[in-house]
Amino acid sequence: MKNIVIFASGSGSNAEKIVEHFRGSTAVKIAHIFCNNPEAGVIERAKRLDIPCSLFSREEYRNGALLRKMQSLQTDWIVLAGFLWLIPSEYVQAFPQRIINLHPALLPKFGGKGMYGHFVHEAVVAAGETESGITIHYVNEHYDEGAIIFQSSFPVLPSDTPEDVAKKGQVLEHRDFPKVIENLVLPTTP
Ligand code: GAR
Repeated sequence: MKNIVIFASGSGSNAEKIVEHFRGSTAVKIAHIFCNNPEAGVIERAKRLDIPCSLFSREEYRNGALLRKMQSLQTDWIVLAGFLWLIPSEYVQAFPQRIINLHPALLPKFGGKGMYGHFVHEAVVAAGETESGITIHYVNEHYDEGAIIFQSSFPVLPSDTPEDVAKKGQVLEHRDFPKVIENLVLPTTP
């Protein structure tokens, strides 16, 4: 059994899709959701989905307590689903090529510190892009710079608002992220 731990800071719609995707799997377990924001919708979703969920402080994040907890859960993969803090290097070293992030744009465009959620979609529209999309990538010590695993895209129309772009991106996130995770965690042998 492969244990996946999800980190989330927001609404948790992607976390929910991932949980649903692996529900009943005998090979993959969503072992825990960790959240750094007491106001986040993901906490209520986790309750409803019956997945253990813990809030953590910046101190626990930095002093090794959270990392130890993940090791005690026998975590194999860490999936960032709308998680907004930078991942400290101890985590990257403890889980080499085992932490992945979802980003709501076509990296390397529109990434980096402060580029998250609606800021990304506003920047895409302001730049007059004719295309945007989603990126799933490995996490390193820098925001949005790890190797890209998967991208999918959609057209941005001149009339599209940032909200329209967000909606189109979310459709792709919900469709693609769980499958990409499955392919990584359970690679098929040739
Ligand atoms: C998603 O759109 C994800 O791509 C984005 O946050 C949203 C979380 O939505 N992540 C980032 O911007 C990370 N830089 P959710 O809480 O409904 O899953």
